[in-house]
Amino acid sequence: MDNSLHAQILWKVMDTLHDADQLEEALSRSLDLFSRGSESNKGSIWMLDEKSKRTIATNVYGTYDATGESAGMGEGLVGRVIETGKTELHKAADVQNMKLAGVDSPALSGVNMVCVPIKTPRHTVGCLLLTGKEKEYTQAEITMLEQCCSILALDIEEKGFEFKPFADREPLLSVRNVVKEFLSGEEIRQILKGVDLDVYSGELVVVLGESGCGKSTLLNIIGGMDKMTSGEVIVEGKDMSNPTEDELTEYRREYVGFIFQAYNLMPNLSAYENVQFIAEISDNPMDSMEALKLVGLDAKADNMPTALSGGQMQRISIARALVKNPKIILADEPTAALDYDTSIKVLSVIEKISKENNTTILMVTHNPEIAKMANRVVRLRDGKISSIRVNLKPLKATDLVW
Ligand SMILES: Nc1ncnc2c1ncn2[C@@H]1O[C@H](COP(=O)(O)OP(=O)(O)OP(=O)(O)O)[C@@H](O)[C@H]1O
Ligand SMILES: [Mg+2]
Repeated sequence: MDNSLHAQILWKVMDTLHDADQLEEALSRSLDLFSRGSESNKGSIWMLDEKSKRTIATNVYGTYDATGESAGMGEGLVGRVIETGKTELHKAADVQNMKLAGVDSPALSGVNMVCVPIKTPRHTVGCLLLTGKEKEYTQAEITMLEQCCSILALDIEEKGFEFKPFADREPLLSVRNVVKEFLSGEEIRQILKGVDLDVYSGELVVVLGESGCGKSTLLNIIGGMDKMTSGEVIVEGKDMSNPTEDELTEYRREYVGFIFQAYNLMPNLSAYENVQFIAEISDNPMDSMEALKLVGLDAKADNMPTALSGGQMQRISIARALVKNPKIILADEPTAALDYDTSIKVLSVIEKISKENNTTILMVTHNPEIAKMANRVVRLRDGKISSIRVNLKPLKATDLVW
């Protein structure tokens, strides 16, 4: 690359950024310019979320949609570049099964790749990842990209742009290094191997994972129905890791609503009475008819469970979780026993209480299609979180197809 071209690109970057008045705009303009300027046909920008200390893909160019994928500090190529603040260059011949972020990033082999920190002299705010260039990246190109990224970083700093994927929200629930061991015969089996997760108020988070990976175990620990071997669960700043019996009872009664795969309705009580029964033991319940209305079953209030379909029973069990006005609803495979049409009805109810009541929902499933309606998708693999993905545009429940 000759010097005049180099200078031209730098001027263009400054000029383009000059009137970008939003972070999103600055990033997308930069990515476009940086990719074309270096003849890379694939690229992405990853920004560091200061709160969670995870780096999240915000923009992509000419590649598969990685937006929302995230890497912890030091994890994968992007996590490493953010941590060290140093450019990494990888030549095609040396690239084998490289991981960008977590375990779920597509493995890369045989491509030229460069990852440049977006940093000011003070701190690293993100990184630029480019690949898909036929020839190797030259030192002149790398210098140019580093300068471009510095201009971007200074622009971000000067304009006070902040990257906040969960702006002004405190986590409602924090799970820290949770380990769960079971004794199986003589042997101790570690089912959860150190899980870290923050759930923010009003979010719909879906936990995905293969059968047996520990999803229900995690949900039960969060719901105070199972004890962890070690780690912490913090709810609204209160440490619930070693609760007393009274704290536990109050937590289960007031904080969490459960929806299980099996509906567990009382067979000798009507739909209304099944909900009312829970309302009566709660401190701050909503009106039971109101809860039935929310799930669209107020007309069936007097039906006994035997006179309800599977989907209707599941909606009654959602009403039962809702009526307590819980801070968080934990749903374990709520549609596993239902056919497609009924599942969509039940998921629409979950979507509605998430959007209209702003109730925080953590839902476990092994159906990846259901994950598309979530704000964030957490993948559990072999007892650990293997990736967390932000859905920038969650689908409506009625648009899910499987
Ligand atoms: N009480 C227990 N004692 C011993 N092992 C257990 C116990 N509960 C769960 N396990 C084991 O822990 C592992 C994870 O179980 P868990 O029910 O959390 O999986 P899951 O991800 O919810 O699976 P599925 O999708 O099939 O519901 C399994 O191998 C299971 O056999
Ligand atoms: Mg399970």
